[in-house]
Amino acid sequence: MSVRRFERIGAHSHIKGLGVRNGKPQPVADGFVGQVEARRAAYIVVQMIKAGKMAGRGVLLAGPPGTGKTALAVAIARELGEDTPFVAISGSEIYSAEVKKTEVLMRALRSALGVRVKEYRRVYEGMVKRLEIRFDKHPYNPWTQVPVEGLVTLKTSSEERTFTVDGSVISEMLSKGISEGDVVWIDAETGRVYKLGRASSAERKYDLSSSRLVEVPGGPILKEKEFIHTVTLHELDLMNSRSGSLFSMLFGGGEEREISPEVRRAVDENVKRWIDEGRAELLPGVLFIDDVHMLDIEAFSFLSRAMESELAPILILASNRGFAKIRGTDYESPHGIPLDLLDRLLIIETKPYTKDEIREVLRIRAKEEGVELDEEALEQLTEIGAERSLRYAAQLLTPSKIVAEERGSKVVTAEIVRYAASLFVSVKESSAYLREYEEKFLK
Ligand SMILES: Nc1ncnc2c1ncn2[C@@H]1O[C@H](COP(=O)(O)OP(=O)(O)OP(=O)(O)O)[C@@H](O)[C@H]1O
Ligand SMILES: [Mg+2]
Repeated sequence: MSVRRFERIGAHSHIKGLGVRNGKPQPVADGFVGQVEARRAAYIVVQMIKAGKMAGRGVLLAGPPGTGKTALAVAIARELGEDTPFVAISGSEIYSAEVKKTEVLMRALRSALGVRVKEYRRVYEGMVKRLEIRFDKHPYNPWTQVPVEGLVTLKTSSEERTFTVDGSVISEMLSKGISEGDVVWIDAETGRVYKLGRASSAERKYDLSSSRLVEVPGGPILKEKEFIHTVTLHELDLMNSRSGSLFSMLFGGGEEREISPEVRRAVDENVKRWIDEGRAELLPGVLFIDDVHMLDIEAFSFLSRAMESELAPILILASNRGFAKIRGTDYESPHGIPLDLLDRLLIIETKPYTKDEIREVLRIRAKEEGVELDEEALEQLTEIGAERSLRYAAQLLTPSKIVAEERGSKVVTAEIVRYAASLFVSVKESSAYLREYEEKFLK
């Protein structure tokens, strides 16, 4: 099993952020409507995460179904930016036939911990002034020609040097479409080639070149460059548990196999050493666990312990239960979460929506799904959203559009909304119907 990133992202694609400007949540912004206090609190959490003040702590999003808890978590992820790892799972996902539940949690936790590795590499940098390639017959296939050697002249504004390079460097240059007039880096150690763009001063052979224009670099050709890449601890675990075993690399299975504690310990030690040496920086990300009441007591104690360890991500939990039994015990507790864990959580409440807010969310969702509603149809849907649930009303959007199209119209009317609602019932109705049915049989 791999940790998936938001399989339900579709339902939240309209959420682009927390909609906060100058520290103030706007009534409607970034696709977010209302829920102003929760967004304000979430914004503070984002600040704390960015400042590194949240590591090993947690947040609980608590509120009735459909009040935007998952949407809030999505918005937090968007606010944190690309570089901060964000992993989302549902409490029920830890129960799998192949992998132990603590292993699933461990992978999720370690996927949410990033390491930004800084590396200084010696590179040859310059504009390719001349490129001469000697081809020869392929050793196993005399009908094809392969580059065996080349002469590359690199130029900066103050230096010019010509290098003899071997076939592999030339092959890489050819595969990247590098030609005279391009600005490149060649890694001094590995011979890897990076194309930075086309020198703006280079004479252009083709007017329609799509390359980025860059300046010819200054200074010496051979220089030290800083490279930065981000990997997660889980990725490092995988790399380390695979190395040495060609079999598992070729035949897969690496994902399903358990990663040994020794491998993880070795990865942790390496990472800590890199940090001490100033070569790396820890990037605590976020592990979001939706439907947290689905976790059991074992999972909770595993999480509590993990949060105390040195390398821990920020935990965001969501729950729509008030009191619930902690799975695996006979005890009830708030949200079905053990008290010792609850103690460490900042709790953010999401509140039920007013009719106006429901209308606004539906308007945004309709636009997102490309559904055109007339005013009455929007009113009808709002009515349904307030009476049954926001999610149910939103789910009627696309069926309504299809019905409208069948009737040769682009616009959804109130009558079409009512028709769609009669075809697709809400959970309230379907469960009530079956209960009634069961009672008939029990008589
Ligand atoms: N304030 C809001 N602004 C815009 N869209 C919202 C808002 N609140 C909820 N939505 C949208 O409404 C739908 C339902 O919300 P969401 O899934 O976030 O609720 P939830 O609190 O996680 O519910 P549950 O407890 O059932 O998991 C989603 O499509 C979500 O993106
Ligand atoms: Mg949810």
